[in-house]
Amino acid sequence: MCGIFGYIGARDPLEICLSGLEQLEYRGYDSTGIAGVGNGEIKFCKKAGKLSNLLQAMNLRNLESAIGHTRWATHGPVNDQNAHPHLDAANSMAIIHNGIIENHHVLRMDLIASGVLFTSDTDTEVIVQLVAKFYAGDLAAALQKALSLVQGIYAIALIHKNHPGQIIAAAKECPLAIGVDPTTKESFISSDPNTFLSSNLDICFLHDGEIAIIQRGHVHVFNTKHEIIRKKTERLELQYTVPSKDGFAHFLLKEIYEQPNTVYKAILGRFQEQTGNVEFESLGFTDEQLSSYKKVCILACGGSAHAGSIGAAYLEELAHIPSQCEIASEARYRSLLLTPDTLVIAISQSGETADTIAALRIAKAAGCKILAICNVKHSTITREADAVIYLKAGAEISVCSTKALTSQIAVLALFALHMARLRGLPVEVAQTFFNNLKQIPDQINQVLLAAPKLQALAEKYAHYEDFFFIGRLYMYTTSLEGALKLKEISYVNANGCPAGELKHGPIALINANFPVVAFCANEQTKDKILSNLAEVKARGAPVLAFAPVGMDGVQAIADDIFWLPPTTDMLAPFTSTVAAQLLAYYIALKRHCNIDQPRNLAKSVTVE
Ligand code: M6R
Repeated sequence: MCGIFGYIGARDPLEICLSGLEQLEYRGYDSTGIAGVGNGEIKFCKKAGKLSNLLQAMNLRNLESAIGHTRWATHGPVNDQNAHPHLDAANSMAIIHNGIIENHHVLRMDLIASGVLFTSDTDTEVIVQLVAKFYAGDLAAALQKALSLVQGIYAIALIHKNHPGQIIAAAKECPLAIGVDPTTKESFISSDPNTFLSSNLDICFLHDGEIAIIQRGHVHVFNTKHEIIRKKTERLELQYTVPSKDGFAHFLLKEIYEQPNTVYKAILGRFQEQTGNVEFESLGFTDEQLSSYKKVCILACGGSAHAGSIGAAYLEELAHIPSQCEIASEARYRSLLLTPDTLVIAISQSGETADTIAALRIAKAAGCKILAICNVKHSTITREADAVIYLKAGAEISVCSTKALTSQIAVLALFALHMARLRGLPVEVAQTFFNNLKQIPDQINQVLLAAPKLQALAEKYAHYEDFFFIGRLYMYTTSLEGALKLKEISYVNANGCPAGELKHGPIALINANFPVVAFCANEQTKDKILSNLAEVKARGAPVLAFAPVGMDGVQAIADDIFWLPPTTDMLAPFTSTVAAQLLAYYIALKRHCNIDQPRNLAKSVTVE
């Protein structure tokens, strides 16, 4: 779950690699490192911690090419030795790696038995030591031989002091893009083509088992038989803009405040008010195809799976089509019994989540068509899906996802409406649903205007170490999301729980130090949630309720109430989620946590 970057060309490779790493930090920020060839030797610098640590320690000059790495630790603790790049014993070559080598222990033992000394705990070092063992002048051939012994997944870049004009790259089940500009004679590699700092590139992606020799302005790609192959290249529309907090204290806060606009953009131009029909630009599925599906299976992880659960409920309630949301990391090992009459929807902000990609591939192998709902263009999921609906939320920088999630829910609401219209939902019902949806950006704005009230509540609750977040139906999924936000950025033990399940066990934990945050917006279960609140209150729990303006009965029970603009049950997740995001943000602020880059996390989880 790391980011790799490389550059060879007329500009300063060090500077370009550092800019690439800055953008790749979303893939991990446990350590960073850079290596290059200069004056006939391998030069490198690597440091535990964020890129800022590397910049302080940077001592490299005059590199002819460079490769850079940002790490999310899998094997071995976070320290300087385990940071990439890793070198062979003779310091003649350096490697960077994204992925996991599953048989690294056996290979390491064999190498140690033959006298190799290891300097790190990583699985990656095994590869460079194997390449050194097989190297006899042809670096690509040595890498190929090493990789034939390796089990696992990888994207790799390798440089050697005897080949100053080359970067060797290889990939298996991990993304690796190569960008070449024959005019300026520059070449790039990256885990993410969106990080290329040039829009004039011919881009290709390495497929499983392929090895590339990258030189200034050109690339040769070989298949597993070491035969040269012609790769199809494409010109991608890459519009890189330097991320800015725009005056906000954190990217997270900025992204929370963007939501009136991002939700608006997610629905803009996608509903025909006259006809009551939904129109996604180039959806890639005909109405006939969509009408023929018997089921929908949504695959996603983390926050995206929460949006997926809400989407599945929309599809059932509006379109009356059996729908389920499966957590991709579980789904990939279950017998989902998928058949081609099931539409599979993969939801991912980044489009790079390893488990979602793996589950998607299993669904494809079962003959299912895949619709992706994604934010990041050119990402693996968008390339592998049969069709894509983009969130259009703009770059989400904070590890904790906010605006992507509300945009996912907005897109899912429209998609469910589309499926419903195809299944005979009356025009007027569709129009009413959309009219309510249209009001959501303004209602989110009302929540944002009340942020000082949420900050005051956060100050009051920030010292607690344990929380339950409860709700029913749509508010249950919202409670899962609210709890995830809090634990992710505040390191507080927060558990989302269906309100009706409390008395089946979890209520045993309740005491005066265990607050319950209750999402009360569902009209359908209003009385039930009030009973649940009374039960926890009777056992001493401090109760903070998020309730729609006008809800009776809640004042008599809750210690604190945050009033939300009233909407329908189906659309209540938007405003309740935004309120929960702000509560988590202000609690994290009060607890002095690293809000944009919480410990142990990465924006994109690219290993399982
Ligand atoms: O990029 P994805 O949407 O596939 O990511 C899925 C999860 O890793 C992500 O939602 C994660 O749970 C967030 N950090 C939640 O805030």
